[in-house]
Amino acid sequence: MSRRTPFHDHNHARDFDRRMGQSNSRTALIEEMIRHLKLRGTEKVLDMGAGTGRVARALLPDLPRGVLVGVDPAPAMLHVAGEHKTEEGGRNFFLVCGRGENLPLKTGTLDLVVSVFSLHHFKRKGAALKEARRVLRTGGKIMILDPVVREPSDAVETEVTQLVQNVFRRTHGPEFCMLPLSELRQILFMAGFVEITTWPQPLVFYGDSADKVPMGKHWYEAAQTAGAHRSAEVRARFAQSYFQIPPEEEPEPTLTGSLTFGLVSGCKGGD
Ligand SMILES: C[S@@+](CC[C@H](N)C(=O)[O-])C[C@H]1O[C@@H](n2cnc3c(N)ncnc32)[C@H](O)[C@@H]1O
Repeated sequence: MSRRTPFHDHNHARDFDRRMGQSNSRTALIEEMIRHLKLRGTEKVLDMGAGTGRVARALLPDLPRGVLVGVDPAPAMLHVAGEHKTEEGGRNFFLVCGRGENLPLKTGTLDLVVSVFSLHHFKRKGAALKEARRVLRTGGKIMILDPVVREPSDAVETEVTQLVQNVFRRTHGPEFCMLPLSELRQILFMAGFVEITTWPQPLVFYGDSADKVPMGKHWYEAAQTAGAHRSAEVRARFAQSYFQIPPEEEPEPTLTGSLTFGLVSGCKGGD
């Protein structure tokens, strides 16, 4: 029985698709990832956590003779992806309901696995990465794009990270977990990938409307929660690591600070 998250709600799925389509920073990150992929156009690709197919739609023009499979456990998200497919075509694009941790795909058949803005939602990230490795051919590649938290440099940073994760978990449930970049590397390594390469993608915001910041509504809530924290050290560190604490009265939520996304690739070497 699949667990219900906001992604299982049809209204949320539609709203998510509309908002993501308007997000310039997310679009720029996806374009950067596609530049790094250097596609030949004939690859067999899996999008793990495909959602409403936004990343797939960006990849398809570069895969004229390839195949793209989008896997996601939320039927509501796949339904919206299917509507786009009907409207815009995509005869080489297939949608499958399933989890990264148990991919409904054959062993050793794919050239590339991508997972974009999704891994932080996976309950068992390590298991999903092992599955990604299983379905890749030898020499095949994985590319992850995901928001990352700061490295746990000391106890204050660890407390700030906990505060942030707790705020996001109120909406997305206990499985939600953003990793620091070093841990993202580590879980790829533990899943058996080699030639692991990371390209941190920092995004900076100056008084931007929270709507324009990826997951901005939650980051604004995290900034408010940090602002109410009893420890001045935690308040200061949150502001240093992420966003300034907002004033109590603000007509429209805005954010000033930074966020980092991790672009991480790995390769399936020979066994
Ligand atoms: C924030 S959305 C991102 C969707 C898409 N990649 C995009 O960038 O628009 C996260 C997606 O991850 C999916 N997801 C959550 N847990 C998953 C799992 N264990 N395996 C595969 N996908 C999962 C959710 O259903 C959701 O559609």
